[in-house]
Amino acid sequence: MKVGVIGNGGREHALCHSLKNSNKIKQIYCFPGNAGTSSIAENVNIDLNNFEKLKDFIIQNNINFIIVGPEKPLVDGIVDYLQKYKIKVFGPNKVASQLEGSKIFTKKLCEKYKIPTAKFGIFSNTKEALSFLQNCTFPIVIKADGLAAGKGVYISENYKEASKAVHEIFDGKFGNAENLLIEEFLRGEEMSFFIISDGQSYKMFGTAQDHKRVFEGDQGKNTGGMGAYSPSRLETHELNKKIINKIIEPTLKGLKKLNCEYKGFLYAGLMIVNGEPFLIEYNVRMGDPECQTLLPKLKTDFSVIINKCIEQQLHDLEIEWYDDKSICIVLCSKGYPESYQKNFIIDLEKLNLKKNQFIFHAGTKKVNNAILSDGGRVLNIVTRSNEFKSARESSLKLLKEINWDNGFYRKDIGHKVIKE
Ligand code: AMP
Ligand code: GLY
Repeated sequence: MKVGVIGNGGREHALCHSLKNSNKIKQIYCFPGNAGTSSIAENVNIDLNNFEKLKDFIIQNNINFIIVGPEKPLVDGIVDYLQKYKIKVFGPNKVASQLEGSKIFTKKLCEKYKIPTAKFGIFSNTKEALSFLQNCTFPIVIKADGLAAGKGVYISENYKEASKAVHEIFDGKFGNAENLLIEEFLRGEEMSFFIISDGQSYKMFGTAQDHKRVFEGDQGKNTGGMGAYSPSRLETHELNKKIINKIIEPTLKGLKKLNCEYKGFLYAGLMIVNGEPFLIEYNVRMGDPECQTLLPKLKTDFSVIINKCIEQQLHDLEIEWYDDKSICIVLCSKGYPESYQKNFIIDLEKLNLKKNQFIFHAGTKKVNNAILSDGGRVLNIVTRSNEFKSARESSLKLLKEINWDNGFYRKDIGHKVIKE
């Protein structure tokens, strides 16, 4: 079979890697991919906004199915578009993708189906938002509606900060804003919870915890993710049941009422408050870097899982996992998440990866056979092991061997599960 993966991050390299391990897959195309995917797939440089060109390439090359990695093409309706041409695609359609594309859509669904989430208000102009903020308790959370590439969420400690956030959002910092959300601040511990769904049935697809802040001790600015570990330390059978019953199932039911079958990965970003799950956000895709830390634990052939989803036969598949822990540490360009330089050489030839060590590329490109940095998050160093501590030590050892002068990384990924 031939398969296409859309995207160019660490998540997509991990997806390609899992597909490559399947003897059912003869050829992988990655649109547009990175230096890592280029060694296991054919990178195809097509603008992801140009659905027509993508469709033509897929048809001309007889690609059997497509997996969509990032949210933007999903929210833009790539699944609906490709399906019109009878192309098999794994990912949610445009209506379902509003779960990530519109925070207000999700909040309204939560309200209708009594899904636990932070209390909220929707405001359509600066005056009303500021007047509400004059009488609320801080900290408070202010969010732009729509996709904001992981930004667009402010946690404001006082009125002055909150007022700045409201102005920035309505002034268009995250694109044209018709509405914003003001939300109660939930105090608890975050957890990423994944399912995979074929539109009729679904299966759990693991849990993880990512580290979003740039500095050790979870300090500093928010980033796309500095590392992750799986499973989440909060995961228990009882909590899983609560998440499924109170959050996942009512959501899928709500979508069905809208005549919408959810097909794809669904990622619930949760806050666990005194053992109770609250939905913070939905993502209609795998997490990045959670995907890089989860997939190496998968025992079942990944291509079989995706095929079963596409054929709506997921119910008769048992997904098996290694009973291991996994840690992913992200190697970033110095300066990230603010300004950084690109095009520095990274030498990986000298490395000898062991069986349970994986390097997934993110912001890299190949030029004349050299690997050059091409983004803020550059490499994902993942180890699977029977315990978190040795997994982290192994990833840190690899990072030392890589010894990349232009980068930095956090040495404390998984600090809540590793007792020093
Ligand atoms: P989001 O993009 O909605 O996931 O928000 C980004 C981050 O802001 C989350 O990962 C949380 O750390 C934090 N956050 C968002 N909403 C809340 C909330 N209601 N209470 C506390 N923290 C929040
Ligand atoms: N790990 C956060 C995200 O993928 O959105």
